[in-house]
Amino acid sequence: MELAQLPFSQACENNQRPILDVLKPKLTDSLQLLEVGSGTGQHATFFAHQLPHLTWQASDQHCNINHINCRINHFKRSNLPSAIALDISQTWPTQNYDAVFTANTLHIVNRQLVEAFFAGVAKITLTNANLFIYGPFNYQKQYTSDSNANFDIWLKQRDPQSGIRDIEWIVELANAQQFELVEDVSMPANNRLVHFIKR
Ligand SMILES: C[S@@+](CC[C@H](N)C(=O)[O-])C[C@H]1O[C@@H](n2cnc3c(N)ncnc32)[C@H](O)[C@@H]1O
Repeated sequence: MELAQLPFSQACENNQRPILDVLKPKLTDSLQLLEVGSGTGQHATFFAHQLPHLTWQASDQHCNINHINCRINHFKRSNLPSAIALDISQTWPTQNYDAVFTANTLHIVNRQLVEAFFAGVAKITLTNANLFIYGPFNYQKQYTSDSNANFDIWLKQRDPQSGIRDIEWIVELANAQQFELVEDVSMPANNRLVHFIKR
């Protein structure tokens, strides 16, 4: 399939460079990164190109793997293997990773799957692993912008179980799995890039 026919996200095009600026200095010692919920695969192809010292393992639910791999095959990079099927609610890989990245997933899945995400990440990582979570969050139960408040209404109309998460709950879940919050970076379009390290 032609690249132009594959699913495409303008948001990915817009946010990949600002995300890279944060990730790059933090990933100098990481070699094996797992991306959860790769979506269109645009982040995977961009970051694998920009971070050639590490292997970027894309993953998503089974139904998305074909189109992600079509995109990956167009780029043919040795540090960008075929995407693997990984449903947060199912069995996680047995391989260990020293970094995990996920963008715009925790407000899509339900609360049980947010908990399952942290349990799964804990299983596949060793001490000092990096965990990066990109997306919108609420602080002290407040939206950080009107656009996020409207987005949350839209999300809940689609799926009442979804919604923008409280950062305090996310940090609590991370801490329970030995991940310590090291930085919470403000990003364009009222998003955050939250960085945890496993202690
Ligand atoms: C809003 S999209 C974000 C995609 C991409 N990371 C981005 O930033 O554009 C949410 C992603 O989460 C994935 N997802 C939803 N439920 C999931 C689950 N149970 N396990 C793994 N991924 C899931 C979807 O397939 C989709 O790719």
